[in-house]
Amino acid sequence: MAESDKVFSGSIPKFYDTLMVPLIFDAYATDMAQLVAVSSPGAVLETAAGSGVVTRALAPQLGADARYVVTDLNQPMLDYAAARQGADNRIEWQQADALALPFDDGSFDVVCCQFGAMFFPNRVTGYAEARRMLKPGGRFVFSVWDRIEENAFADEVTNAVALVFPHDPPRFLARTPHGYHDVALIREDLRRAGFTDIKIDTREKLSRAPSARDVATAYCQGTPLRNEIEARDAGLLQLATDRATQAIASRCGQGPVAGKIQAHVIVAAG
Ligand SMILES: C[S@@+](CC[C@H](N)C(=O)[O-])C[C@H]1O[C@@H](n2cnc3c(N)ncnc32)[C@H](O)[C@@H]1O
Repeated sequence: MAESDKVFSGSIPKFYDTLMVPLIFDAYATDMAQLVAVSSPGAVLETAAGSGVVTRALAPQLGADARYVVTDLNQPMLDYAAARQGADNRIEWQQADALALPFDDGSFDVVCCQFGAMFFPNRVTGYAEARRMLKPGGRFVFSVWDRIEENAFADEVTNAVALVFPHDPPRFLARTPHGYHDVALIREDLRRAGFTDIKIDTREKLSRAPSARDVATAYCQGTPLRNEIEARDAGLLQLATDRATQAIASRCGQGPVAGKIQAHVIVAAG
């Protein structure tokens, strides 16, 4: 993983929250909130919370006395999440690296993490850290994207942007968000971290947007793909976005667009 892959700052939080979240994260956040809330947990830790899509879905389902600690590596994402959430005295916002969590052992009933594990430089360390946080009988609920070929827009954007930089194609989307999809490896990493009860459910959904341009802008300007494009030539960000728009429009047309998305949803315990 390149260093810039985990940098969500500058213009990224706003584009991420307004364009990426409705496109591909909202639907899975609804599922994750249900999976967490089903056991009526008294204390929940969320890692890699980003701009707060899971927090917004889960907070209304937790009890009045619940403790909900919401963390992310990048303070600008957390600031965005906290501003959207509004006052809620059950929620504690704290910047934290999921690989070095600043909380006592056995503090939480559930640790949840939506689409964050792909960014962990060492998954076994990140999973062991989640397990350390859990009370006996606690659960670690998390999700990762399936391979890029199962996620239509990410694949189309990656291929279109590659044509703008043929000698050094930006591969962020394939390398990181879609680079950790092997369920055998995920199981093995969880076992090495100490989990014994592991369930993995592969879920397909349909991603929709008002236009191809919304999708292209979301991926090219609302994710660290932007960092990769700007590192090559900041003046080509708009051209890259235009080429991605054309690629999606050539399949979906000029109006509303839709594409398959697919992810693995994992519950680990023991
Ligand atoms: C694709 S976003 C997912 C955000 C959110 N969970 C969602 O579903 O929209 C990945 C998030 O992981 C965060 N992140 C990256 N590395 C991290 C780490 N080591 N510890 C905690 N968060 C991390 C990033 O700041 C970013 O907000």
